[in-house]
Amino acid sequence: MRRARSPLLLLVLSLLLPVAWMVKHENFKTCDQSGFCKRNRQYADTAASTSGWKAPYSLDPATIVVKNGQLTGTILKTVGSDTVRLPLTISFLESGSARVTIDEEKRLSGDIELRHDSKARKERYNEAGQYALVDGLGLNTKATLCSTAEKGTTVVGYGVGEKNDAFEAVIHHAPFSVEFKRHGTTQVQLNKHGLLNVEHWRPKVEKAVPEVPEGETAPPPKPQEEGEDESTWWEETFGGNTDTKPRGPESIALDISFPGYSHVYGIPEHASSMDLKQTRGGDGNYNEPYRLYNADVFEYELDSPMTLYGSIPFMQAHRKNSTVGVFWLNGAETWVDIVKKTTGSNPLSLGTKAVTDTQTHWISESGQLDVFVFLGPHPEDVVRSYGELTGYTAMPQEFAIAYHQCRWNYVSDADVIDVDRKMDKYQIPYDVIWLDIEYTDGKKYFTWDPLTFVKPEEMTAHLAKRDRKLVTIIDPHIKNTDNYPVVDELKSKGLATKNKDGDIYEGWCWPGSSHWIDCFNPAAITWWKGLFKYDKFKGTAPNTFIWNDMNEPSVFNGPETTMPKDNLHYGNWEHRDVHNINGMTFQNATYQALLARNKAEEKNPRRPFVLTRAFFPGSQRLGAMWTGDNLAEWSHLAAALPMILNQGISGYPFAGADVGGFFGNPSKELLTRWYQAGAFYPFFRGHAHIDTRRREPYLAGEPYTGIITEALRLRYALLPAWYTAFHTAATTGAPIVRPNFYVHPDDEAGFALDDQLYLGDTGLLVKPVVHEGADSVDIYLADDTSYYDYADYTVYQGKGSHKVPAPLEKLPVLMRAGHIFPRRDRPRRSSALMRGDPYTLVVVLGKGGAEGELYVDDGETFEFQLGAYIHRKFVYEAEGERLSSADVGTKGKGTDRYVKGMEKVRVERIVLVGVPAGWKSGTVKVTEGGKNWEAEVSVVKGGKGRADTAVVRDPGVAIGRDWEVVFG
Ligand code: NOJ
Repeated sequence: MRRARSPLLLLVLSLLLPVAWMVKHENFKTCDQSGFCKRNRQYADTAASTSGWKAPYSLDPATIVVKNGQLTGTILKTVGSDTVRLPLTISFLESGSARVTIDEEKRLSGDIELRHDSKARKERYNEAGQYALVDGLGLNTKATLCSTAEKGTTVVGYGVGEKNDAFEAVIHHAPFSVEFKRHGTTQVQLNKHGLLNVEHWRPKVEKAVPEVPEGETAPPPKPQEEGEDESTWWEETFGGNTDTKPRGPESIALDISFPGYSHVYGIPEHASSMDLKQTRGGDGNYNEPYRLYNADVFEYELDSPMTLYGSIPFMQAHRKNSTVGVFWLNGAETWVDIVKKTTGSNPLSLGTKAVTDTQTHWISESGQLDVFVFLGPHPEDVVRSYGELTGYTAMPQEFAIAYHQCRWNYVSDADVIDVDRKMDKYQIPYDVIWLDIEYTDGKKYFTWDPLTFVKPEEMTAHLAKRDRKLVTIIDPHIKNTDNYPVVDELKSKGLATKNKDGDIYEGWCWPGSSHWIDCFNPAAITWWKGLFKYDKFKGTAPNTFIWNDMNEPSVFNGPETTMPKDNLHYGNWEHRDVHNINGMTFQNATYQALLARNKAEEKNPRRPFVLTRAFFPGSQRLGAMWTGDNLAEWSHLAAALPMILNQGISGYPFAGADVGGFFGNPSKELLTRWYQAGAFYPFFRGHAHIDTRRREPYLAGEPYTGIITEALRLRYALLPAWYTAFHTAATTGAPIVRPNFYVHPDDEAGFALDDQLYLGDTGLLVKPVVHEGADSVDIYLADDTSYYDYADYTVYQGKGSHKVPAPLEKLPVLMRAGHIFPRRDRPRRSSALMRGDPYTLVVVLGKGGAEGELYVDDGETFEFQLGAYIHRKFVYEAEGERLSSADVGTKGKGTDRYVKGMEKVRVERIVLVGVPAGWKSGTVKVTEGGKNWEAEVSVVKGGKGRADTAVVRDPGVAIGRDWEVVFG
């Protein structure tokens, strides 16, 4: 087995050497080793170093038509005396976004020849949208042509809402470029630097090799003509694998500039800071572009633009009070260079302010050029527009946002039951236990190891009795072996990915020789759905859910640990075109399968839960992701939060990292700190490699087990707040955990901050401890509002850094004044047992009062789509000293029944933090449903440096009703 080191070997090694975890760089390409990346970087260098560089692309004015919200025309690329015709479409969407698409006429009409008798499609890949986009493509028919446009330009005015005039696209004809303006100021520019490059189709011209007379040596090859380095056009070999490239060179590239923007974020997944770095060298910068090519990067390194498991080519640019974004819709290997240029910083040019522009260069190996431009102006606008197109994050079942206990592997059904019992014995809450690949019979998915998982149905039933869930892993590689009906069917039905010759593709993964299901094929999805039926995947039950791993896809003997690019998928698209989409199609098939496990479930389905490692825009609609194989090291604990924050602002917020670190054995301190941090990851799962020591929380011993349990209880207490934040994400695209810039878009000092988070709209500000031996952290406050320590109400105030004590037992959490958040304070074994529990409302008083929300539904089914939920808005008015609860839901068929079922669920406590000095214990007036009564309030003086608080015990109000509590 490739990854599981023998325990004995590991022991010997660990005694002899400090364990060195190192990614094998030589397994992955640099830009220079990736032909199309190198060519486009060279192109950029030529453009930059050639005075008077003129980009060879111009929009033929005679072809321009603006109609029904769309501009169409033809771009002409001049190649010597020839021209290549490139159809252009700019669509102005109702949402205010614009979409620019460039194709190539010759390939579009199939007027090209493929090499090597390839069966691949001839067109540029144009189906990425079918997988990534779900909505938001309605055209803004009010987009209008501006009659005063300067010669050589076409200007289209567009926007959102009634006025519809906030935005403008200024299209320069020659060379072709587009400026996107908001209120007259350019925000995003396409092809400003002339790096647009559409590698057009051309036949391979066999060059005569000069004959060398015997005894003489061949003359050195002539230097390549500028921009015409043909060495990687027709074939490319890396690590012993040759890519045959039947369509020749076909990359697309474009420079996208953000004038006046000095920060760019996004384009996950990289183990890097959220604030993206420059990539063309210089102090503290990278030398390589950020790469997007889903890959199983073993022992990945930190602070690196190297590719990882998933790709979201969506970037936001931010400056004070303005956010804009671009979404590069392409499923092929993609690289992004980032350079920042500051002008006006000359100390002699008095009175001028330095301005930084960020220039980005996007390079994809194949496909259409397809880019969306979002003009903001707020971070919320950009993520909403992106989510409108690609879908918002799916509302998960409630258990999915509770704690998950995983390791590679729980070794038997008895082991699972034992862990479950011990968690109860130690009163450690958890909802889900996971099974990694070893539960299978010889890595044959949909089977159980007959020696170790003897009675899987009893195991699932045991868990079900306690309202707990089981997640089993199912990977996309199917063992190529005899007597395995799954592989027989895969083959006989022709549902596997094919090699370049059209035969079934064979490669190596956990099971050894394997084939890969091709989930681009609708018939493969239909077949896959059948495999999960309870009577097929025996031992599973309604409380079984699925983990999809290795879906980049990981192929141990493939180029860069994945599939050859010239493999063929459904519709004869090359793997090259769809590589980054592949993982999402597998997760989608599993998602569909979980909806159809039996007839009863089809009628009233429960929300699927599928964890994926590979992802693409749209994956957020299907389940959670995690950051793959991290290390049990402090540096990896620190690296997880920037990655999770970046996922959040990139439209895929249901994200987590392996708590404890996957490889290696964390110290007890590290494990404890990781649980504290993990309690604030949207996806919260402990996981460990097969070679590591067991580390279930109860094994740590005191004080660690107790502290970890406290972190878990904090997560469980705050589940109502988390669930509400998930609802907000599912309806607006807002991140669940939010970085400083998102919450305070005007606070320049905090734009690069990625080591602390805000939880949804709760005002909770968390800074996990990520350094060994630390007993305090410096929390950055972006504004002059009061913040209160979550546990002891110590007041922190004043913009800037504040030292907050953080002994091991303490996770620094502050509450920002002006917010209200819901909690459930009764410790329980799992989230399901909390469903009927009463709520606590925490009201953190601000100058003008406070506001907050609660969203709650059955936590399981899709009935919330029929209005079966409670959505309240709580407002505390400082002037009237009154707290009220109002309905902000939309009534539907299911509302009354749900609200009635929740009638008995009440608010058991209202905690007010930062109450005025004059407040005294006594009574408050309560009104609900036309009735009035009084409840007791006790005021506690905080003392030096701490806020005064008040607690109303049992105000007697129902969570689903309108009510008011008057304090004054
Ligand atoms: C790789 C995954 O990243 C890891 O989490 C898992 O334990 C192993 N595959 C084995 O399935």
